[in-house]
Amino acid sequence: MTPASLTQEPQSVSSAVTRNAFFIVATVNEDAASRATVRAWCADVANLVRAVGKRVPAGNLSCVVGFSSDAWDKLFGEPRPAGLHPFREFGTGERKAIATPGDILLHIRADETDLCFELATQLMTRLEGAVTTVDEVHGFRNFDMRAMIGFVDGTENPTGNEAVHFTVIGENEDPEFCGGSYVLVQKYMHDMKGWNALPVEAQEHIIGRTKLQDIELDEAVKPSWSHSSLTTLEDDAGNEIKILRDNMPFGRPGSAEFGTYFIGYARSPEPIEQMLENMFVGLPPGNYDRLLDFSRAVTGGLFFVPSQPLLEALAEVDPGAAPTMNVSAADSSETDTEPAAAPSADGSLAIGSLKGAPRYE
Ligand code: HEM
Repeated sequence: MTPASLTQEPQSVSSAVTRNAFFIVATVNEDAASRATVRAWCADVANLVRAVGKRVPAGNLSCVVGFSSDAWDKLFGEPRPAGLHPFREFGTGERKAIATPGDILLHIRADETDLCFELATQLMTRLEGAVTTVDEVHGFRNFDMRAMIGFVDGTENPTGNEAVHFTVIGENEDPEFCGGSYVLVQKYMHDMKGWNALPVEAQEHIIGRTKLQDIELDEAVKPSWSHSSLTTLEDDAGNEIKILRDNMPFGRPGSAEFGTYFIGYARSPEPIEQMLENMFVGLPPGNYDRLLDFSRAVTGGLFFVPSQPLLEALAEVDPGAAPTMNVSAADSSETDTEPAAAPSADGSLAIGSLKGAPRYE
């Protein structure tokens, strides 16, 4: 499969691992002026990241913007990303992956907190009056990449081309949205007293890896309900299907609040949803992830992350107007002589009523 980045530059989905991350989830206010403000803002994001990031060139500042299913419909209308739907809940009772409100996700990463803070301030100032923040988490990198629960997190992440392969929509799968990704977020709160009361060996069985050295347990001793077993997926041919995670610990020790912000990127929501089902319902049902005996999901959202040029072009969308262009990626690729990652909304966007977006024909 061709990585979509050849034709549409992705947002900084697989950017460097950073020391800090801010996660902001907001709803768009219910009036036309607010929707227009959010659309116009889409064209400002890249400029603001550039301007703020320039002040600390080695700070690895980046921002990924995603839109929920409902938000896509009310902001941009048709066409819509093929896999975008409201967050699917899994499980019941205490062990449930719940859906919570949220139209827009901002995933801001940098090595320094001040960079995250400044960019978040600039981005949110421009959205003032148009959105209502429903959740904001400031995560930090914990010692040697350890999650709040003390285990190294992110080890089995794909890197380089493999990360692109698993996270970026290819031009043959959803042509109008190639270069995009899906991102699923959940805020978890941990019972750290309960977790710390477990012997390390019991914790290692729950995760499926050793705690100190972060080595995968031997299949002979790794339980089928371990986190690692339930989140390892294979396709019919036996090839592993990966997602890209950049979880961050967060908390307020003074209030005994200890959490993990889970964030997973993929080229389709399916693998992440399958993992959630395995964790919360169990594989087979009942054989669930024991990490959930000590971790409660308190938020849940699924978002589509447009490619970088599409994000900028969305500023020009007028969902009330009749479609004015409809050129598929397949059509445009035959004549498109622009270099890879052309910073424009080329014909492949096929966004109905995309006014004034540059085209290559
Ligand atoms: C309470 C929240 C969570 C914590 C603290 C957590 C922690 C961890 C840790 C410590 C590992 C082992 C090291 C690694 O490969 O990264 C891991 C692996 C993994 N986790 Fe999680 N995780 C959480 C939630 C989730 C969720 C919600 C998903 C998916 C929906 C997920 C998917 C994965 C995957 C795919 C792996 C790699 C499995 C492998 O290939 O061995 N995790 N996680």
